[in-house]
Amino acid sequence: MLVAPSILSADFGKLNEEIKAICEAGCDLIHIDVMDGHFVPNLTMGPMIVSSVAKIATKPLDIHLMVQNNSFFVDLFAPLKPKYLSFHIEEEKHANRLVQKIRDYGISPAIVLNPHTTLESIDYLLEYVDMVLLMSVNPGFGGQKFIPNILEKIKYLKDKIELRNPRCLIEVDGGVSDKNIMELKESGVDIVVAGSYVFNGNYKERINSLK
Ligand code: DX5
Ligand code: ZN
Repeated sequence: MLVAPSILSADFGKLNEEIKAICEAGCDLIHIDVMDGHFVPNLTMGPMIVSSVAKIATKPLDIHLMVQNNSFFVDLFAPLKPKYLSFHIEEEKHANRLVQKIRDYGISPAIVLNPHTTLESIDYLLEYVDMVLLMSVNPGFGGQKFIPNILEKIKYLKDKIELRNPRCLIEVDGGVSDKNIMELKESGVDIVVAGSYVFNGNYKERINSLK
């Protein structure tokens, strides 16, 4: 299991140290939650903060856009060269075009689905993306409770991926902990995002427990 700690739960008063510590603790990716106060009722980081994270990080960035006007934000964050840049299907009329734009920047495109969004909405995108991120909480905040019917959704997604694009990874975000990690693994998840679980304990122990 690959582990991507969400720095939304880090102490922003000492972000430098937090990034170093989480990288040394053995994370695989650093998950960055970009919220615009419109698509979700919260406001987080812009490219200035994320570029200082990128300078310190020794692990690749996984940028999760929770914004309106995706294309504008892709242009803002692409120069920071994240490994993954993901956007919500609910907020994009021209998803295929945006996927291509992200790939043209040399970045792996990923698509995100809210908990209630059906998999049919991405049937004709699966072959073009490198990862699908399934939200297991309603986006906007860390520390929320895991929505259990996502486990069923993961299994359906796994079947679709095997048919249409076997190299596409499945990532899950929200409420992940040692309590549900085994079920997530068994359902077919490749990468978990974990914010409060990792940052509210010993980083290395918590990352290892998920792995
Ligand atoms: C929620 C964010 C998540 C969040 C996860 O909108 O996308 O990445 O930080 O936090 P936890 O693991 O605490 O649910
Ligand atoms: Zn996220």
